[in-house]
Amino acid sequence: MFKTGVPILAANDIEATLDYYRRVLGFASSWTWGEPPTFGSVSWGNVTVMFNLQPEIAAHVRGHQHWFEVENVDAMCERHVAHGANIVSPIADKPWGLREYIVEDPNGYHLRFAARIREEPVEPSAPFPPGVALVRRLPTEEEFARVAGQEFYRDGVPTGVLERSWQGVVALSPEGEAIATLRIVQDAPGWFSVWDVAVLPEWRGRHIGAEIMREALDLVREASPGAFVYLFTFRQGFYARLGFADQTVSMIKV
Ligand SMILES: CC(C)(COP(=O)(O)OP(=O)(O)OC[C@H]1O[C@@H](n2cnc3c(N)ncnc32)[C@H](O)[C@@H]1OP(=O)(O)O)[C@@H](O)C(=O)NCCC(=O)NCCS
Repeated sequence: MFKTGVPILAANDIEATLDYYRRVLGFASSWTWGEPPTFGSVSWGNVTVMFNLQPEIAAHVRGHQHWFEVENVDAMCERHVAHGANIVSPIADKPWGLREYIVEDPNGYHLRFAARIREEPVEPSAPFPPGVALVRRLPTEEEFARVAGQEFYRDGVPTGVLERSWQGVVALSPEGEAIATLRIVQDAPGWFSVWDVAVLPEWRGRHIGAEIMREALDLVREASPGAFVYLFTFRQGFYARLGFADQTVSMIKV
């Protein structure tokens, strides 16, 4: 088991770099090695970054990224702006469930500061609507583009996504139109993953999302009892009600 890991970044001036990390970025402590310093380190809470005097490498690092998870990303961003940090990507909610911004440090490293997006409190859903039917099949390309495409593939659904899927579940409105879809991938015997769970906005909050997920889990259980099903999500609260852990990547055994 690993105990800790610390990056050692190439710097072209150890003192100037440490000064920037303390004064502008807010790191609380630092130390150096050598006179003049050829190595240095900054720390804040559990996070440490070390620097090695390697100007020839530092000359080529521009855009190389390092990621920091922070407690209050908005407050951190305000602090960094106030201290003159070079923000190369403004703070924004990202589709991968993080609120992030990027600072370019004096050596050119791109430091991504992020925190998990706080989910808005969700109202209890209304009962499942009469006349809506659940069908065990993959959505057609048109259904998938209309329902899931809006959420997950704004630049267009790449070819082969449906073909690579094992099965799917579609919810049909009383008029027979697809209003919710998901797809299941079989990754290996006994291993499945669920992708692109989407309900059309006007049909949300009526237990349709939960029901297509239950149907998907039943489908896997019937085909492969005891299989593992995993998913990646930034709507942890929704999946937690279905037995998944309250985590970005979660897995259950059916
Ligand atoms: C997430 C989504 C699939 C939920 O579908 P839905 O049909 O609106 O949800 P349901 O009505 O089935 O919700 C079932 C329960 O989960 C709760 N719930 C729904 N979304 C939730 C969320 N984001 N966080 C916590 N709980 C949530 C509901 O309040 C309901 O609770 P209840 O049984 O106590 O009433 C839908 O909002 C959607 O398509 N969002 C856009 C795409 C997306 O984010 N997909 C999932 C990410 S992979």
